[in-house]
Amino acid sequence: MARTTDFSTWLAKFAADFDKQLNVVLGDELSHDSRLHQAVKYALLGKGKRIRPALCCLVASNGAPNEAVMRTAMAIEAVHTYSLVHDDLPAMDDDCLRRGRATVHVQFDEATAILCGDALLTYAFELLATVDVDAEQRIELVRVLSQSAGHNGMVLGQHLDIDATSQSISFEELQNIHLLKTTELIASAIEMGSVLAGQNTDKWRKFGEKIGMLFQVVDDILDVTADSEQLGKTAGKDDAAQKPTAVSVLGLDEAREFAAQLCATAENGLQQLGVESTNPLNQLPSFLLDRSF
Ligand code: IPE
Ligand code: IPE
Ligand code: MG
Ligand code: MG
Ligand code: MG
Repeated sequence: MARTTDFSTWLAKFAADFDKQLNVVLGDELSHDSRLHQAVKYALLGKGKRIRPALCCLVASNGAPNEAVMRTAMAIEAVHTYSLVHDDLPAMDDDCLRRGRATVHVQFDEATAILCGDALLTYAFELLATVDVDAEQRIELVRVLSQSAGHNGMVLGQHLDIDATSQSISFEELQNIHLLKTTELIASAIEMGSVLAGQNTDKWRKFGEKIGMLFQVVDDILDVTADSEQLGKTAGKDDAAQKPTAVSVLGLDEAREFAAQLCATAENGLQQLGVESTNPLNQLPSFLLDRSF
C-alpha cells in the first residue's frame, strides 16, 4: 500500500509539471479565438492522470524530462485525448462525463468534438515533427505512434469494441480488443521513451504490453467497483451499454485474479530490464493494480 502511495505522489507532481508546460505550449500554439481552439484546450487541459506521458518520461529519463522528451510526451497525450473525445461521442460510447466535467460534445457540440479529435490527432504529429532529436529517432517516434494509433492499432480496437457491443465473445477475443484499443498506445508510450533513451525497444515494448493489458483490465473492474466521482467518468457504463469487458467475460473475482497475474508478470519484466532502483517505474505495476481512479 505504501508503495502505491509513493507512486501516486510522484505522479501527482509529474502531472502538475506536465500540465504547466502543456499550458504554455498550448497558449503559444492554440491562440485562435475559436470554439475549436477552446475545445482542444478544454479536452487536453482536463484533469487526466497523465499516465502515458509519465511512462514515456520515466523510460526516457528516469522521470526528469528535457524539452524533447516532454514534447514527445505531449504528442502521446494528444493522441490519447483525441481517442477519449471520440470514444465519448454519441455514435460511440455516448458519455456525458469525462475527467470530472462535461464531455467535449456536451460542452461544445458534436461537430466541434469531432473536429477537436481531428485537430488533436494531427497536432500530435506536428509536435513530433519538431522534437529536437536525431532525424532517425524522430522518424522512429512517428512510426511507433502512427502504427499504434491507426488502422492496425487503437482505431481497429475501437472498431472491434463497438462491433462486440451486446455480443458474447471469448476471453481471447476480448484480449485482442484490449490489446488494440488500449495496450497499443500505452506500450508505445513506453517504447517511445526507450527510443529517446537509445535503449532496446523490443524488451520495453513487451513490458509495455503487460502494463497496457493491466491498465484496461483495471479500467473494466473500476467501472463496476468505483463511483463516477472517483473516476471522473460515468461508472457502471459498461454493463448498461452491454460492453464485453474483463468483468463480463471472466467475472469480477477472476478479473481481479487476472489483473494480479499481469501485475506480477510486469514486475518480473522490470527486474529483467534492470531498471534503476530509484526509478518510480518499480512501483508502477502495483500502483496500476491498486488504483481507485
Ligand atoms: C481512459 O484512460 C481510457 C482507457 C484507455 C481505459 P485514462 O484512465 O488514462 O484516462 P485519463 O487520461 O486519466 O482521463
Ligand atoms: C477506451 O476504452 C479506449 C480508448 C481508446 C479511448 P473505454 O471506453 O473503456 O474507456 P473509458 O472507460 O470510456 O475511459
Ligand atoms: Mg469505449
Ligand atoms: Mg468509453
Ligand atoms: Mg472503460
